[in-house]
Amino acid sequence: MAKDMESFQSQEDKRRKRMKLAAYIGAFAVFQVIVILVFALVVMKVKTPKFRIGNGIKIQSLTTGTQSSPSFDMNFVAPIRIKNTNFGPYKYDATTVNFSYGGVHVGQVTIPKSKANFKSTKKVDVTVSVNSDALTSTSGLGSELNSKVLTLNSRGRLNGKVELMLIFKKKKSTNMNCTMAINVSSKVVQSLTCK
Ligand SMILES: *[C@@H]1O[C@H](CO)[C@@H](O)[C@H](O)[C@H]1NC(C)=O
Ligand SMILES: *[C@@H]1O[C@H](CO)[C@@H](O)[C@H](O)[C@H]1NC(C)=O
Ligand SMILES: *[C@@H]1O[C@H](CO)[C@@H](O)[C@H](O)[C@H]1NC(C)=O
Repeated sequence: MAKDMESFQSQEDKRRKRMKLAAYIGAFAVFQVIVILVFALVVMKVKTPKFRIGNGIKIQSLTTGTQSSPSFDMNFVAPIRIKNTNFGPYKYDATTVNFSYGGVHVGQVTIPKSKANFKSTKKVDVTVSVNSDALTSTSGLGSELNSKVLTLNSRGRLNGKVELMLIFKKKKSTNMNCTMAINVSSKVVQSLTCK
């Protein structure tokens, strides 16, 4: 009788242990699924880096011709920013940023091949020269300069790859489309918007 009781006890213990083990395994499996989901949704998700001109354009020189013969000639330092929010570096190829006035190409600058690190912003300060030599009509420019503003647009496209976990590579391109309004009296950038 006592022996029976003992073996019943030990069987009950074993059953409890098995249940506990099954519960641990179940909890671990759920935990694994959550880890994998977070990994897939957050870490492995490839976001498009942002390519833009940051605040703080420094105008080094700006001349604007005369009222009868409007023109512009300007040199400035543009803080180019490549913001990478991915969990891995964004390696991009060299590219050109084109500057235009009223749709006419007025200057360009080369951005050398490089990379934006894991969750960081790559800063590239470039010196840009633009002038109105290519404009065929300056009537629009004349009236704009009369109101003391000069509006320029910058366009660019970066091609590159986001690298995740050192092995996965995903191609990602990003476009720049910025518009800046320059106050020609004070020689400062009044507004800058990038899409
Ligand atoms: C910039 O201009 C060059 C030619 O001048 C052109 O090949 C390139 O596609 C232009 N880039 C953009 C983003 O418009
Ligand atoms: C660039 O932005 C301007 C306005 O700021 C917009 O009119 C134009 O359609 C945009 N171009 C591209 C290619 O997104
Ligand atoms: C340009 O700057 C001057 C001097 O700071 C200021 O008086 C003027 O209002 C500005 N022009 C525009 C169009 O904001």
